[in-house]
Amino acid sequence: MGLLPIIVILCSVFFSHTVSGQLRQNYYANICPNVETIVGNVVKTKFQETFVTVPATLRLFFHDCFVQGCDASVIIASSGTNKAEKDHSDNLSLAGDGFDTVIKAKAAVDADPSCTNKVSCADILALATRDVIALSGGPSYAVELGRLDGFSSTAASVDGKLPQAEFSLNQLNSMFSAHGLSQEDMIALSAAHSVGFSHCNKFANRIYNFSRQNPVDPTLDKEYAVQLQSMCPKNVDPIIAIDMDPNTPRTFDNVYFQNLVQRKGLFTSDQVLFEDLRSRPTVNTWANNSAAFQTAFVTAMTKLGRVGVKTGTKGNIRFDCAAFN
Ligand code: HEM
Repeated sequence: MGLLPIIVILCSVFFSHTVSGQLRQNYYANICPNVETIVGNVVKTKFQETFVTVPATLRLFFHDCFVQGCDASVIIASSGTNKAEKDHSDNLSLAGDGFDTVIKAKAAVDADPSCTNKVSCADILALATRDVIALSGGPSYAVELGRLDGFSSTAASVDGKLPQAEFSLNQLNSMFSAHGLSQEDMIALSAAHSVGFSHCNKFANRIYNFSRQNPVDPTLDKEYAVQLQSMCPKNVDPIIAIDMDPNTPRTFDNVYFQNLVQRKGLFTSDQVLFEDLRSRPTVNTWANNSAAFQTAFVTAMTKLGRVGVKTGTKGNIRFDCAAFN
């Protein structure tokens, strides 16, 4: 083999790790070289104030990317004439600490004279998401950057775009594959439920009046069902939220999959990953192999971060993440 083919192969291997479409890991190298440190410091401070920073930021990123792409459209506040994404019923349970993390990180970035108005809210959210995962014990990874912020955010655009807790494997697969995410990506991303909270109404159907034959969902571990009933009595205050991972609620880890094997998945959409024989082998593998799960998770997050990305004239850099310029 001559030198040229070898150089071509080396370049393609190198670039496949750093470039996708128009996103690049070193996008801000000459624009705002300290962006990662600045965002990282804000996220760390916020994390020390409250753990909710972790699940709140991670879920915010997911809900942003699945509606109109990763363009920070979920952060826009409703205005007189426009009901924004964040006020759709599927987004009302997004915790405020995720929004707060991005707003604070944006202020810190803009306070650096070389960075003022040069870093998008969408990229700040992608970086903050990577940081919260690492802070809670998950894998760290290089984030592709160069997204612009979107020009539109409507509650109507959220309809049918986010997965529901009662979804079957087919429904999950079809929603994720619409964004170029495979079944493996979907299973890996579902492990985000290794941290954070759920309100009781999201799974009440599994513990009360499930069906005529079974008052409780038979795919739910019996002891766990009793625990859930005691934390979420029938007329529980709707404000009450419980840990989604009953074993390691503050650690981002593969215990999520071990829970599924023990039939301790909180939502139908979690437990179905073990119950359906098409996805069970992946759940079993990752329950037993944390490193393999982490690799798959990083791949899936990177793909999630590419969904519907806006560049060129399709977006801009917002001055205020919660309002259009
Ligand atoms: C696979 C389909 C999914 C379904 C059906 C689903 C559904 C839900 C539901 C119903 C909640 C509880 C909300 C509440 O009561 O406050 C929740 C919480 C959460 N979800 Fe998902 N989700 C899915 C995938 C994902 C993905 C892919 C991610 C991120 C990569 C994610 C991250 C989170 C986080 C971190 C929380 C906890 C939020 C908090 O504590 O504030 N979810 N999800």
